[in-house]
Amino acid sequence: MLILMHMKELKIVKDNNSLLRLKSSDVTLPINKEDEETILSMMKYLKNSQDENYRSTHPNVREGIGLAAPQIGVLKKMLVIHFFREDEEVTRALVNPKIVSKSAKKCYLKSGEGCLSVDNPHEGFVFRDFKIKVEAYDAIKKQNVSITARGLEAIVLQHEIDHLYGILYYDHINKMNPLFAPEDFIQL
Ligand code: NI
Repeated sequence: MLILMHMKELKIVKDNNSLLRLKSSDVTLPINKEDEETILSMMKYLKNSQDENYRSTHPNVREGIGLAAPQIGVLKKMLVIHFFREDEEVTRALVNPKIVSKSAKKCYLKSGEGCLSVDNPHEGFVFRDFKIKVEAYDAIKKQNVSITARGLEAIVLQHEIDHLYGILYYDHINKMNPLFAPEDFIQL
């Protein structure tokens, strides 16, 4: 039997691999074909991961809303996010993202965070800036963008940008008191 594959199936690097602890390099702009294909394949993976039918035939694929290049073994500053906010689709493929400002206000997910590279659960809150401004090149829009993100989008962006610096979400959990949060922090 001959099986034709248009795209190599991406394999997710897990947190037992020290590669996830390394800092990624800046991508040279204008983006070259190879980097562009990489980031678009990451977006494809993420969208597929949200498709129940796809997951039923790919049991190793878990559902995610964000993915950073180190998680597929590429140490370059690229990330993708994809989720729905009410009726609106939030889809971003960012190259060399940089947080240029952040709010004093903090927030966290009530359920804690998860990660496609982390199979074991790590209970505890991860505090993030509620509002951030990110500058990047968007490989879908094919232009530089300046994004003001709040709430979930801000959290996902901070989680993915952390990956570009070798940081995992559970590094932020207070080991002594994982489920404590100051009252003025916004719970999402
Ligand atoms: Ni992650």
